[in-house]
Amino acid sequence: MPDPSHPEPDPTPERLTLGGVDLDVVRPRDLESLIDEEAFGRNEFLPYWAELWPSTPVLAEHLAAVDLRSRRVLELGCGLGLPSLVAARLGADVTATDWAADALVLLAENAGRNDVDLDLRRLDWFAPAEAWPEGPPDPWPLVIAADVLYEARNAPALLRTLDRVVAPGGEAWIADPGRPPAAALWRAAAATWTVEVLGDEVSGRPTVRRLRRRRG
Ligand SMILES: C[S@@+](CC[C@H](N)C(=O)[O-])C[C@H]1O[C@@H](n2cnc3c(N)ncnc32)[C@H](O)[C@@H]1O
Repeated sequence: MPDPSHPEPDPTPERLTLGGVDLDVVRPRDLESLIDEEAFGRNEFLPYWAELWPSTPVLAEHLAAVDLRSRRVLELGCGLGLPSLVAARLGADVTATDWAADALVLLAENAGRNDVDLDLRRLDWFAPAEAWPEGPPDPWPLVIAADVLYEARNAPALLRTLDRVVAPGGEAWIADPGRPPAAALWRAAAATWTVEVLGDEVSGRPTVRRLRRRRG
């Protein structure tokens, strides 16, 4: 797992509107300075968490289209965690996770700026049980993730994690810009999950796929 290096965010808050929800966030601007050669050598860790990726606004729009009040939501690979902030502002009870401790430190700060409480957990898809040393949590009716399928090695671990964290009858919404490793995951998932695109597919725009366990 990457070691925390606590990069300094740009102190000037930025107003972002995602899914119609206004958020004030700070984030690091000098992404080059976050690269840690040692962490890369250990497990090819790069600070992707610090970037605002284009799948996030699309996922936020889908979240804003449903009633999230009091709904339990888990975000995987949250990075800046903007979908988690949107869901929490819309009344959901949100757990946000990433393997990058720095991401969680910054998300705690941004949660405070936006007057929401998030449960923050360091969760590595290759060792998800370690996120809850106190014992397995109740699985979630809605698990979300944006742009987490950029490396083929992640797909089997993510599928195993989904199997663990999605409640029976629950669903996972995964936003993706159409990267090749994502196509491999949709194919592998199809054995045990139904995979459908939410809304209309627009060329060049990320899509959100909904995964639901097949019955029987
Ligand atoms: C491309 S970024 C997307 C970040 C954010 N979801 C977004 O869309 O802006 C991928 C995220 O997955 C996280 N990640 C990568 N490998 C992971 C792993 N094995 N376990 C947990 N998180 C991981 C990264 O730290 C990063 O935050």
